[in-house]
Amino acid sequence: MPALATVIAQASSRAIEQAKSALSAGLLVAFPTETVYGLGADATSDSAVAKLYAAKERPSFNPLIAHVADLAAARRLAQFDAEALKLAEAFWPGPLTLVLPKLRGCPVGQLATAGLDTIAVRVPSHPIARDILAAFGKPVVAPSANRSGRVSPTSAQHVQADLAGRIALIVDDGASPYGVESTVLACLGRTVLLRPGAIPRTTVERFLGRDIATATIRTDAAGGAGHRLAPGMLASHYAPRAALRMNAVTVAPGEALLAFGPTLPQDACNARTILNLSAHGELVEAAANLFNYLRLLDASGASSIAVMPVPDEGLGEAINDRLRRAAAPRHPRGSTADGGLGTLRPGITA
Ligand code: TXA
Ligand code: MG
Repeated sequence: MPALATVIAQASSRAIEQAKSALSAGLLVAFPTETVYGLGADATSDSAVAKLYAAKERPSFNPLIAHVADLAAARRLAQFDAEALKLAEAFWPGPLTLVLPKLRGCPVGQLATAGLDTIAVRVPSHPIARDILAAFGKPVVAPSANRSGRVSPTSAQHVQADLAGRIALIVDDGASPYGVESTVLACLGRTVLLRPGAIPRTTVERFLGRDIATATIRTDAAGGAGHRLAPGMLASHYAPRAALRMNAVTVAPGEALLAFGPTLPQDACNARTILNLSAHGELVEAAANLFNYLRLLDASGASSIAVMPVPDEGLGEAINDRLRRAAAPRHPRGSTADGGLGTLRPGITA
């Protein structure tokens, strides 16, 4: 991607305004939180989120955390049961992330939640993060502001070393107070720990008055045995009902076609529906459209979706990773012994 001039701004009301305008323009902004520096993008814009995955060079679309200014804003995104509400009231603002059912009509895009029906939400306590979220007024997805495979950044200099030239703005407010990521709990029936973090498990357990389980991470057909699985790849990862055929260069009658690039297969007229991830062959645009288009083609009623080859470079790697998972044979839902949370799928954390 072409190098951007990355502005580094000391935390101030002016920097908060700059962050707000950059986010509104679909650009990427690194900002301090009480845990680690986050790389923020407008959570409601699939194309802003696609840029974020590209800047981080994530090899897969891990679901991201939607950061909001307060509980009221969080309740516009997700369904809180009584326990989730209790936890939010006790620990927010602060380094706790809750994974909850995504509300119908939730404005956070499909790419941000990697096509899941659940959403991770957090209300950070860092004053600069809070000011930016309040000024922007919309949810901001923010994974740690490092390149994939590198350690999480706890200073603006760390962010700069990894992401200068790839993002619009870094807001600098010194060292991160906690220096480790938020604790991630899933409240999807029963509360489980998905990722240990800045709030110790024992603190949560004492608060709830009982022990909490750690989500058992297992492999499944799509992942292959022996994978070390990342937390957070819980359940209901969107898998199309239709069969998926990757690297398709022909289209069978009645298939749906998920195209990529300007040149369609000669027999594309066989397709009952065609959607093009990017007619220009742009991978960031393709990533932004991926989850929506898979759902739309699935809804077209086709029993098979032919997917044209997508180059395995840049964001293409994550796109192909997602397509491979969707194409892999699946166990029937609910056939697993995971306490009703569904099948855990593998992922790579970044
Ligand atoms: O402290 C933090 O949480 C930092 C700061 C910047 O806020 N952010 C952060 O984001 O650590 P990230 O993207 O590096 O980690 C998000 C974690 C991952 O383990 C991801 O799998 C999990 O949250 N997660 C997100 N959405 C999820 C979902 N719907 N279901 C299960 N896990 C989810
Ligand atoms: Mg991270």
